[in-house]
Amino acid sequence: MVEWKDEYSVGIKLIDSQHKKLLTIAKKLMILISTSESFDHSEEAANIYAELVSYTKEHLAFEERLMLLNGYEGFIEHKLQHDQFIASMDELAKMDMEYNQREAILSMLTFVSEWIVDHIQGTDVKYKGQLKELS
Ligand SMILES: [Fe+2]
Repeated sequence: MVEWKDEYSVGIKLIDSQHKKLLTIAKKLMILISTSESFDHSEEAANIYAELVSYTKEHLAFEERLMLLNGYEGFIEHKLQHDQFIASMDELAKMDMEYNQREAILSMLTFVSEWIVDHIQGTDVKYKGQLKELS
């Protein structure tokens, strides 16, 4: 779920490495919930999640700039997906992790990692070969 696969490549090194970093941060959440259940992880989980939200925003903004600079025709549709995802991520951040901590973290993790992978494979791939990396 949070492992990078070569088939996720969009052919742009910088974006691939950003996607890898997103999955790496998501993996930290996964490792956290795989550890002892009796230990309280809510603060640590909230910190990792905040890191994930912040890096996601940075990455999506980068992708959007690259699309605009390349005059990419699918920009509006693509940006809409980004905006909706950011809204969902911000909404999830309000989740009470103290209550049923494991479930809360797991549902965050599942939603976010599935969205990232689906978005890469369903939407980001559409710009494959159409965007030039900035030098
Ligand atoms: Fe995207």
